[in-house]
Amino acid sequence: MAKLTAKELFHGILFPGHLHSQDSLRLALKFQFRDTDILIVSYPKSGTTWMQEIVTLISSRGDPHLSQTVPNYARAPWLEQYYFTELLEALSSAPRVMTTHLPHHLLGPTLQGSNAKIIYVSRNPKDVAVSYYYFHKMAAFLPKFSTFSEFLHRFLDGTVCYGSWFDHVKDWTSQTATMSNLLHITYEEMSLDLRGTIKRISSFLQCPLVEDEVTSCVKHCSFSSMKDNTMVNYTLIAAEIMDHSKGSFMRNGKIGDWKNQFTQEQNQYFNSIFESKMENCTLEFVWEEQ
Ligand code: A3P
Repeated sequence: MAKLTAKELFHGILFPGHLHSQDSLRLALKFQFRDTDILIVSYPKSGTTWMQEIVTLISSRGDPHLSQTVPNYARAPWLEQYYFTELLEALSSAPRVMTTHLPHHLLGPTLQGSNAKIIYVSRNPKDVAVSYYYFHKMAAFLPKFSTFSEFLHRFLDGTVCYGSWFDHVKDWTSQTATMSNLLHITYEEMSLDLRGTIKRISSFLQCPLVEDEVTSCVKHCSFSSMKDNTMVNYTLIAAEIMDHSKGSFMRNGKIGDWKNQFTQEQNQYFNSIFESKMENCTLEFVWEEQ
């Protein structure tokens, strides 16, 4: 399968060539989901890895063995990536946990009629933009931007890899009204009430946990545990692909870090685009830790 070139689009969207090919993306849109599958969906930098860890720990009833011995991308592989089929075959038993960054207008038809359990994770877009900007610095497979301002314009235009944050979040979250198999969880909920959020997710997955098991999940998916876990902090990835001298995947892990990055002018510009693009959207966002 020929990997995508840096400028090649799939349905008008850029995807990192290192991980995707036209075929791998086409195959994703034809994937046959089973009702026992669990699918984590997110726009990049919204808490995907955190949700992968939470779902792994809930499915293991708080036992950290799997999350400390198998890399996240192997235990919850990305549907659209080049290596998906190979990794999926290696997943031993149900439920199969998968991840995707695909927008709803592409993957929605594939999921129609399926009872797979879908967890959509979103995060306030100012923090997403900052996290994504710093991720571009360390990920060799992503384009380079010389300034945050340049990146922010592309992010707001929706011309970065994986497309528009606005379309992604609006289209997926609007499905919650009609899809009972879709749970929307925010990064901010996880930050502000990790224990309560784990309980909500375990109940949605019909995997009720006793208090000690919840306590173990909370402990092993805290920012400090995950920062030290080589199975999720991406330090196992070769430096030519992810250069840890240029930053860390588990970078900051806070709500409201955008305040340390945005200038007043960038914030005004962001707010004006946000207001027009989100005009008819009732979603509420937590922009800073109270
Ligand atoms: P920051 O760059 O703001 O630190 P994704 O997995 O979707 O790529 O998202 C990565 C972001 O989630 C990074 O944000 C990372 O630090 C944060 N993150 C991952 N695990 C976390 C945890 N346990 N607690 C808080 N933030 C976490």
